[in-house]
Amino acid sequence: MAEFKIPELRRKKERGEPIVSLTAYDLFTAHLARDAGVDFVLVGDSMANVIQGHSTTVPVSLEEVIYHTRIVVRALPDMLVIGDMPFGTFKVSADETVHNALALFKETGCGAVKMEGADESNLDAIARLKRIGVPVMGHLGLLPQRVHATGGYRIQGRTEKSRQRLLAEALALQDAGAFAVVLECVESRCAEAITRALKVPTIGIGSGPHTDGQILVIHDALGMHAEYLPSFARHFAQLYTEGLKGVREYADAVRAHTFPGPGEYTMVPQKAGADGESDNEGAQTA
Ligand code: KIV
Repeated sequence: MAEFKIPELRRKKERGEPIVSLTAYDLFTAHLARDAGVDFVLVGDSMANVIQGHSTTVPVSLEEVIYHTRIVVRALPDMLVIGDMPFGTFKVSADETVHNALALFKETGCGAVKMEGADESNLDAIARLKRIGVPVMGHLGLLPQRVHATGGYRIQGRTEKSRQRLLAEALALQDAGAFAVVLECVESRCAEAITRALKVPTIGIGSGPHTDGQILVIHDALGMHAEYLPSFARHFAQLYTEGLKGVREYADAVRAHTFPGPGEYTMVPQKAGADGESDNEGAQTA
């Protein structure tokens, strides 16, 4: 069962084995992650950017995250799938956070949920969810849902004050019961210090090599965008370029009347005097 994979993440940290994770949103991305043996997938609210085409993660709704998480859970019955709580579904109050986390957890069958930040209402909700049996992953550093409030996408943990705040928040998340903490765009030495201070694993994105694991948005990792690549990501494949080549070849073949070719369509043999059609007639491939 997927949720039983959570203790294994902690054991990996203890053994010093890197934890590998990716986002997934559908059957294709889920199966790529599964077949490559990644440790868990996150159905990230980054779907607002890479699936829906929004410029921030703010607009995606709980219903939309539930829809995609259900697809990924169905595709990966034996993997840990984490559903991401979208903007406005937590922080407002601990009661509302618990209610929305339960909806995401129960309606999708995911193994855990993730939420950004470590304010009092999150900490209260995380502790309550843990008692109920809903594992929560925290998320600190750059919080994409707050870009309007913070004024952009910036590296966090560059000053002593910011380092101390991040460390205190990470410890508070662990104490509340979070089973892991994502560190997004946290200055590398700060991320390393947090990783050393926590018993639960840290999962880095844009935070350097010293976290317990790494996560990337699968579209960034596989070159699935036409142009965009965050500075911290790397293209491990060029799916957009490959896909575009394939689509161009298909269009050229249709225009040149070379697709469909022999063997790629079915032709019903002409019988003398036949003038009607029947669904049960034998067919033959050209
Ligand atoms: O939504 C997302 O994809 C995320 C990861 C970048 C950690 O939160």
